[in-house]
Amino acid sequence: MKKMISGIKPTGQLHLGNYIGALQPFVQSQEEFDVNVFIANLHCITMPIDPEELQTNLRDALRFYLAVGLDPKKSTIFLQTDVHEIAQLGFIMSCLTPMGELNRMTQYKDKKDTGISLSSGFYTYPTLMTADILIHKAQYVPVGDDQKQHVELARNTAERFNNRFGDTFVVPEPVIAKVGSRIMSLSDPSKKMSKSDKDGEKGVVYLKDTLKVARKKIMSAVTDSIGIVQYDVENQPGIANLLTIYAALKKISIPEAVSEFKDVQYGGFKKAVADEVCALLEVLQEKHQSYDEAYIESVLQEGADKVRPTAQAVLKEVQEKLGMEILK
Ligand code: TRP
Repeated sequence: MKKMISGIKPTGQLHLGNYIGALQPFVQSQEEFDVNVFIANLHCITMPIDPEELQTNLRDALRFYLAVGLDPKKSTIFLQTDVHEIAQLGFIMSCLTPMGELNRMTQYKDKKDTGISLSSGFYTYPTLMTADILIHKAQYVPVGDDQKQHVELARNTAERFNNRFGDTFVVPEPVIAKVGSRIMSLSDPSKKMSKSDKDGEKGVVYLKDTLKVARKKIMSAVTDSIGIVQYDVENQPGIANLLTIYAALKKISIPEAVSEFKDVQYGGFKKAVADEVCALLEVLQEKHQSYDEAYIESVLQEGADKVRPTAQAVLKEVQEKLGMEILK
């Protein structure tokens, strides 16, 4: 069975874009792949974050992953810091990554251009991500398209390592969800739906939003004056975004979604989208509340225990190849 690895960085509350772009595809992959998902709590602290808020977000993320149907019997779910080998391999990966490559990362460049002061951890974040990925020797890495460049970096490092020190790492492929890998903000459909959106309150549907609030956000989504429900990202980005959301939640194609609303006005179309979104949130929120603390802890414990043997073996192999080990 081919292996998948992906991380999630819950520095904010999970939203509909995360659900469609990341959570839903994971769950669909479970039948076909050995799915490994971890909560990237080290990546979470690369930018300043309030400890209480982080704690809440980590717990909520885990609960929502379970709620969407990630099954700990089929998949492996763990917390990044519960497997110490990852951070150690991360330091090694940073020593094998030229600064020139990190300077080219668009996420870093965009943040740097805002002028805010950045930690060195934020700068080297892609090298930790390289370790996150390579330590599992997985074939596939499902990510949002904003993370594709980081997976490319991991590929480069894996190839470079293999060439220099002998075949060690699997060179992994990024997997970008076809439908809905870029859900846009409801209030500004030229921007990605993101918790860091300044308009966040209006543009983002959080999985924890009350149904009333979620419905209101969908109903007030920015559209256009063309008045026809069709998929035209250029001229009707708002409608295209709502179609993407609808198609993803109904698990149908965009053309199928378009044909459902051929003669429907925007108001009716939005109501249909809101109904889908609210039906989803209702189920997720109910499940989210249903897990007790002991269960949550056992999921993380078992996940880390399952991953650790491979992580230890790979770290040892790497350190031996680099000539770092003394004890056998
Ligand atoms: N950087 C990713 C994000 O911001 C999260 C992440 C960390 C990740 N390590 C990973 C994703 C490894 C895939 C594989 O979304």
